[in-house]
Amino acid sequence: PRVSVIGAGNVGRTLAQRIAEKNLADVVLLDIVNGLPQGIALDLMEAQGIELHDSEIIGTNNYEDTAGSDIVVITAGLARKPGMSRDDLMNVNAKIVVEAATKCLKYSPEAIFIVITNPLDVMTYLVWQATGLPPQRVMGMAGVLDSSRLQTFIAMELGVSTADVHAMVLGGHGDLMLPLPRYCTVSGVPITELMDEITINRLVERTRNGGAEIVKLLQTGGAYYAPASSACTMVETILRNQSRLLPAAAYLKGEYGLQDVYLGVPCRLGCRGVESILEVRLTDAERLDLHTSAASVRQNVHLALD
Ligand code: NAI
Repeated sequence: PRVSVIGAGNVGRTLAQRIAEKNLADVVLLDIVNGLPQGIALDLMEAQGIELHDSEIIGTNNYEDTAGSDIVVITAGLARKPGMSRDDLMNVNAKIVVEAATKCLKYSPEAIFIVITNPLDVMTYLVWQATGLPPQRVMGMAGVLDSSRLQTFIAMELGVSTADVHAMVLGGHGDLMLPLPRYCTVSGVPITELMDEITINRLVERTRNGGAEIVKLLQTGGAYYAPASSACTMVETILRNQSRLLPAAAYLKGEYGLQDVYLGVPCRLGCRGVESILEVRLTDAERLDLHTSAASVRQNVHLALD
């Protein structure tokens, strides 16, 4: 199989490395900067004999080279600097993702699109609209990352292996995301049985600010190792038709009482993309939070389209 990664910045190049070193697919890494994707692709290829994988990595500035991709991952665009919100990136990134998606579709009409560029839910909607694809073939990556952050914080707090922790974060990828502690478990035991409410609220808050915490530490940009791992998991699930249940930004057609919006919900991912959306039972308060998050995404889509 073949995966095109648009944008050879921190997230794109790390994702290319993860895909190749896991032997999942050949990777085409495309960026607007001359030489950058070519240099990174060559550097990664020069490690092939040591890492022992068979994936070919091609760097290019030309969309023709992405032809025949099974999956296109869009990471192109600006990343946050300290003090910026994800929404501050909107207008610049809207133009970039729409152009990238349209050009990729031309050469890979069968591809499934995974959007990473922020503000995530808005950019995913724009890519869906610009490509005119059935919504199950366009999704956004955020929930896997936000959930893995919460998973990490729970494991750190309890001193247990991260592998035993399962966490669930729904909603938009921003301050209004909806971590669901009721649905987080350690080896099947709900964390609400293992921690007091104050501790859980602290971990939930840290998850909401998980991206900003790293932006502040790095000073030069945002997180990229965990984002690349999260996107790679989605790529693997789709390529191998694994039917894993992962939170992803998906197009809602009445699920959760919401319509015509992209938002993070639990999705069964497989070779056709979003195979189905799972509707978990929410409390009235959680449902209200999800609707508030959706309203904010919708408002930003309108602003981006203006
Ligand atoms: P970066 O600045 O390291 O890389 C972005 C790359 O995009 C650069 O190499 C740039 O040359 C390229 N680019 C810009 N315009 C382009 C165009 N028109 N065509 C092709 N390439 C173009 O940024 P980084 O850290 O890789 O982040 C990328 C995006 O992903 C940002 O918008 C960031 O906010 C977002 N992000 C989203 C996450 C999520 O959970 N959804 C997690 C982490 C990052």
